[in-house]
Amino acid sequence: MTLPQSHKPVENSPEEKKAGEIRRMFDSIARRYDLLNRLLSAGMDIRWRRDMVRLLAPRDGERFLDIAIGTGDVALDIFRWNPGKNITVLGVDPSLEMLRLAAKKIEKSSVPAGSIALAQGTAEALPFPDACFDGITVAFGVRNFSSPAKGLREMFRVLKPGGRAVVLEFSHPRLNPLKWFYQLYFKNVLPLVGGWISGNPEAYRYLPDSVGAFPVREEFKQLLLQAGFGNIEYRDRTFGIVTLYSAIK
Ligand SMILES: C[S@@+](CC[C@H](N)C(=O)[O-])C[C@H]1O[C@@H](n2cnc3c(N)ncnc32)[C@H](O)[C@@H]1O
Repeated sequence: MTLPQSHKPVENSPEEKKAGEIRRMFDSIARRYDLLNRLLSAGMDIRWRRDMVRLLAPRDGERFLDIAIGTGDVALDIFRWNPGKNITVLGVDPSLEMLRLAAKKIEKSSVPAGSIALAQGTAEALPFPDACFDGITVAFGVRNFSSPAKGLREMFRVLKPGGRAVVLEFSHPRLNPLKWFYQLYFKNVLPLVGGWISGNPEAYRYLPDSVGAFPVREEFKQLLLQAGFGNIEYRDRTFGIVTLYSAIK
């Protein structure tokens, strides 16, 4: 697998500066990212991505874009849960360290050679022409966009008419006892363990902060509507720890 050439994006505006900080943060935690995902979600992240791929419902001959591909789990799961289908996936992410790990995992996997390609880039400026994908996935990525509204508009642009977008993102649990326990875990235990294992405490303090500040359910639906999407549905998973959104162009 050939990796995209490293390039240093310009960082002039506040938005570009924020994007640079986020990219460097993910570069720094990439090596421990998978381990921490499994550990901190008690393995539930595997089930959440499987549900996401089910909702995407890939068909033979389709071409997908996985935004914020990270270490490649969603792209690999698209093949894992759809064996024998002739599918291609393009993964995009600004973090070169994440892309390096994704490339290694893809090479070791049983996915047919050339079925997953990788590109360095951000959701806010997707390096692809209009209307070229049948479906788009973003797992735990939208929250990190320097401009979610711009990223969603770009997703709409590169989707074919009738194409579908599926977004998986952390949410805010609604049930009271669980909400209390979750806040305690998410705001205290997770930053401590994540910071210690990754060596970057700031990154695992950023996680609960960014989730707390992110618009969920009806508010996120409004962002999808404003980007042009229709047929928007959402459903909670695991008592509302995460929410899965689907939308059609
Ligand atoms: C929490 S990880 C999720 C990775 C993967 N989708 C998963 O399910 O494990 C977030 C990813 O978003 C990427 N990211 C950050 N800012 C982004 C942007 N503006 N556009 C696209 N991806 C971005 C990061 O580099 C990181 O790999």
